Amino acid sequence: MACHDAQTVVRLDRVSKTYGSGESAVHAVQDVSLELAPGRFYILMGPSGSGKTTLLMLMGCLLKPTSGSVFLFNEEVSALGEGKLPRVRREKVGFIFQGFNLFPALTALETIEATLNLKGLRGEAAREKARELLTHLRLEKRFHHLPEDLSGGEKQRVAVARALAGDPPIILADEPTGQLDSKSGRLIVEVLRDLAHNEGRLIFMVSHDTRILGLADRILEIDDGRLKDQS
Ligand SMILES: Nc1ncnc2c1ncn2[C@@H]1O[C@H](COP(=O)(O)OP(=O)(O)OP(=O)(O)O)[C@@H](O)[C@H]1O
Ligand SMILES: [Mg+2]
Repeated sequence: MACHDAQTVVRLDRVSKTYGSGESAVHAVQDVSLELAPGRFYILMGPSGSGKTTLLMLMGCLLKPTSGSVFLFNEEVSALGEGKLPRVRREKVGFIFQGFNLFPALTALETIEATLNLKGLRGEAAREKARELLTHLRLEKRFHHLPEDLSGGEKQRVAVARALAGDPPIILADEPTGQLDSKSGRLIVEVLRDLAHNEGRLIFMVSHDTRILGLADRILEIDDGRLKDQS
């Protein structure tokens, strides 16, 4: 195997993912090879159904490839047993899902605290950190709101704060600005880009919004499960 850059955080080696089998098989991701570096802000574009969410889930160890290998920090995570994956996800990856995936019974502050608790931070330290993260996302007036009492843009920012909890080195964002007006969308994108450029995280974001493409360090395009020639 070729020598790989020590600066590579995520590496996909000929990764494919097929859902189902036989006549109903869907080849969602096909033969994708990719190396992603820390401190970079990547944007992935592609039509609906082209495999973007599947690719993100493969990178974040939420799905196993049908063939090929996924490496995070040179560890072949696609070869790990199910029992070991929660550790990798917890320590390495923050997710911002398509839609928000917020738990309806938790306030903004409780959502972030609960995530920090899962990552081992407890009590007042977790509460303080949760306040800090929400304030960073300009939600200081919404600590005690439930998701149903938040606007779409605010919900999305809570989801971003949750992904940042625990300081993961890799942040995967699935259309985090999809349902937002351009001002709220731009705020989120700028927060993510700053995390890459100022804190050295790897940010990999799915977006259709052509207005923000100029903020990316690199733009990737996927169509029908295959990565197109790279820009
Ligand atoms: N669990 C599943 N079982 C079967 N097929 C699936 C499953 N999840 C996704 N697919 C199919 O795989 C293909 C890729 O889906 P994926 O969700 O990755 O697309 P996407 O690019 O994220 O689309 P969108 O922009 O609409 O979110 C689609 O054809 C989809 O129907
Ligand atoms: Mg999707």
